[in-house]
Amino acid sequence: MPTGKVPLLAEVYGIEGNIFRFKISEIAPLKPRYEVSDVLIQKPVTKRLTPCTEDTGVLVLKDDSVNLKFHITANPFTIDLISEDEPVLSINSMGQLYFEHLQMPPKHRPSTECKEDVSTDPSQESQDDLGLWQEKFGKFVDIKANGPSSIGIDFSLHGFEHLYGIPQHAETHQLKNTGDTEAYRLYNLDVYGYKLHDKLGIYGSIPYLLAHKLDRTIGIFWLNASETLVEINIQPTIEHTLSPKGSVLAKQKVKPRADVRWMSESGIIDVFILMGPTPAAVFKQYSILTGTQALPPLFSLGYHQCRWNYNDEQDVKDVDAGFDDHDIPYDVIWLDIEHTEGKRYFTWDKKKFPNPKRMQELIKSKKRKIVVISDPHIKVDPMYSLYSQAKEKGYFVKNNKGGDFEGICWPGASSYLDFTNPRVREWYSSLFAFSEYEGSSDILFVWNDMNEPSVFKGPELTMEKNAIHYGNWEHRDLHNVYGFYQQMATAQGLIQRSKGKERPFVLTRSFFAGSQKYGAVWTGDNVSEWGYLKFSIPMLLTLSVAGIPFCGADVGGFIGDPEPELLVRWYQAGAYQPFFRGHATMNTKRREPWLFGEEHTKLIREAIKERYALLPYWYTLFYRAHVTSEPVMRPLWVEFPKELETFSVEDEYMLGSALLIHPITEPKITMVDVFLPGFEEVWYDFRTFVHWEGARTLKVPIALDRIPVFQRGGSVVPMKTALGRSTGWMTHLPYELLVALDTKGSAKGELYLDDGHSFQYLHQKQFLHRKFLFCDGILSSSCADENGHYHSECVVEKVLILGINKQPSSVTTSSSDGQEKQVVFTYCSKTAVLHLEKLSLNVGANWEIHVK
Ligand code: NOJ
Repeated sequence: MPTGKVPLLAEVYGIEGNIFRFKISEIAPLKPRYEVSDVLIQKPVTKRLTPCTEDTGVLVLKDDSVNLKFHITANPFTIDLISEDEPVLSINSMGQLYFEHLQMPPKHRPSTECKEDVSTDPSQESQDDLGLWQEKFGKFVDIKANGPSSIGIDFSLHGFEHLYGIPQHAETHQLKNTGDTEAYRLYNLDVYGYKLHDKLGIYGSIPYLLAHKLDRTIGIFWLNASETLVEINIQPTIEHTLSPKGSVLAKQKVKPRADVRWMSESGIIDVFILMGPTPAAVFKQYSILTGTQALPPLFSLGYHQCRWNYNDEQDVKDVDAGFDDHDIPYDVIWLDIEHTEGKRYFTWDKKKFPNPKRMQELIKSKKRKIVVISDPHIKVDPMYSLYSQAKEKGYFVKNNKGGDFEGICWPGASSYLDFTNPRVREWYSSLFAFSEYEGSSDILFVWNDMNEPSVFKGPELTMEKNAIHYGNWEHRDLHNVYGFYQQMATAQGLIQRSKGKERPFVLTRSFFAGSQKYGAVWTGDNVSEWGYLKFSIPMLLTLSVAGIPFCGADVGGFIGDPEPELLVRWYQAGAYQPFFRGHATMNTKRREPWLFGEEHTKLIREAIKERYALLPYWYTLFYRAHVTSEPVMRPLWVEFPKELETFSVEDEYMLGSALLIHPITEPKITMVDVFLPGFEEVWYDFRTFVHWEGARTLKVPIALDRIPVFQRGGSVVPMKTALGRSTGWMTHLPYELLVALDTKGSAKGELYLDDGHSFQYLHQKQFLHRKFLFCDGILSSSCADENGHYHSECVVEKVLILGINKQPSSVTTSSSDGQEKQVVFTYCSKTAVLHLEKLSLNVGANWEIHVK
């Protein structure tokens, strides 16, 4: 091998499910380079690619099952992916592949190496050369033991100009051109009151980008957990006018192209190309690799009340009672860091919370839950048993001198549990056992915060890159996956404490690809300003398409005091976002929903009640996310992938495929433009039932009492309009079906239900999955999945059919045993709505309703 040249190995794999993997690493690195483990749910199942030669100098590999070809050239090194004879994507066509190989420190290098490398006296090295080996960040010097180790390569996406994904940024849903200086950065950081319109990284990172055009969706999943930059250069469609031929001006369309360049600080190039071709296929492919959303316990889809902090047991009692007194349903009260003894997690402040069990019994008697915080930093205090145990077992991240890493966080001097070590995770999980966690009970669930990890006074408020983890990996290699591992261990702990019976609920601030398997994510420290409410939509849409359906933003804004109008609008928006929690920081005014005058209390109550009424629909959507990996909150382009107008919409979205939501995110609005997509669609105002044809922008008059919500014709939405004080009180309440007919007079929908909390749906198949179909005047309920069995006393009590054009002469129900019954109905010709009440049809039975 010539001096200075280091051989690399490039590997190409076809993977079952129309996925393609491509890896590059050093053949014989000085020491192993980090490869992300534990994120892929299984070793991808490879399939045979058939080699065939078409041209000299080109290796062609074919995957006939999906009509995909790879054209690989060696010099220059490029790969073209050609699907059905159309080039979809080219790798390294811009020649930006680089791979910095690991090196001995200059003073250890043999003298045969390049001249400038043989110097042993650092003072003789140029500043530039030193800069490669050590980087300064404020007072921190990052010494790179084996020199710079970054990697990168470019992808050209042919015909694409709409890109999405790579959360987390406080940016638009559609990715923008980055120019020379503004790459999207993926680096998990604690950024208090982060700036809007910013491409710098915040709490979590998912190195996964989606690209969409009229006839194809694809994904690029860059499996690397070190600091990563993504540069984007989109060349949109251009129409050239050619010189006139005769009197006709000829036009030529130049196809758009998106160039995406990925760069990571260390590790290897390991990338999965998800070939789609539809949005649903890409979601599926990503879930084959990283898993789907864990099915949340039903309570966690209700409303959560949080504050830093609820001061003491009495405060908790009062807030809890406040919800009942004001007739506002809620499910969970949260305790932030002040509930502990001096920020020692897994303990209770004895003065403020002298009897946590008693407090939880009260909450449990209300069929509600509590969530407590558990951060990854552990107070340096030999008297704190968690600290002394972890210290003794060697469970903390190490500094580069071999001692325990120490940094400052809430408790003061702290060490950080090394969750990348499976033994640490096992031990941490065991701490959630009821016998270990004093004062805990089965209604206590967990919140992992500050797990980027946040290190006050650390570089960029995080851990030094040359801190050392299990396996001797540097923090730089795995920074972005640290929080992922904490949530994994926490979820495992909650499952274990119930002996594998109960589903966990864990909220995390930091996350990585695959975090969906362990719980929910929120968008951290937002601000009580209209702009942050507005940005909650694109930020959550981006998380949703990047595989994290269970996501939310602090309702009301964490920092600052929202004016009542903003708070109301935030509740109205939050009620239609997957994770629905009100939260506020320490020095803010109290903001429980009833503190802003009767009128505002009423509006917030209504918003929260709308959420509870739709819980059967939410739960069904989460089940679908769990089994089929469809996002719950969907950008319009996902539901209308062939309608160009939808590709840039980010002020409204779909909830499942049936509801269109347009939150109001500006003050004093009296009219708003709502885009109703779909050339053949009909949309029903969810409150008035007035209907409109699709493919239009509607001017909707707005008052403070509502945000625009429309139901798509052709859908059936299951609801429970009789409400309880929490989800626990609603188990036996009757269902209502909202059937919205499409232009052909049909509709379909589904309902999933189970016990709402255990794994019996999985292990014993104790669930009901029903489907509803309205066609030719008959609404039928039948089984959608014969594998599931679950006994429910619940009935469908009411059915509303929207879009029935004439008054029926009779309505009857028939059950599977042949019994027929007349149904008393009312019909409103003005709204074209048929109301059926007092139906008493068992939710698990097959039945029909005949409308004649
Ligand atoms: C930062 C979190 O983002 C916030 O939600 C929490 O209240 C504080 N840490 C205190 O734990």
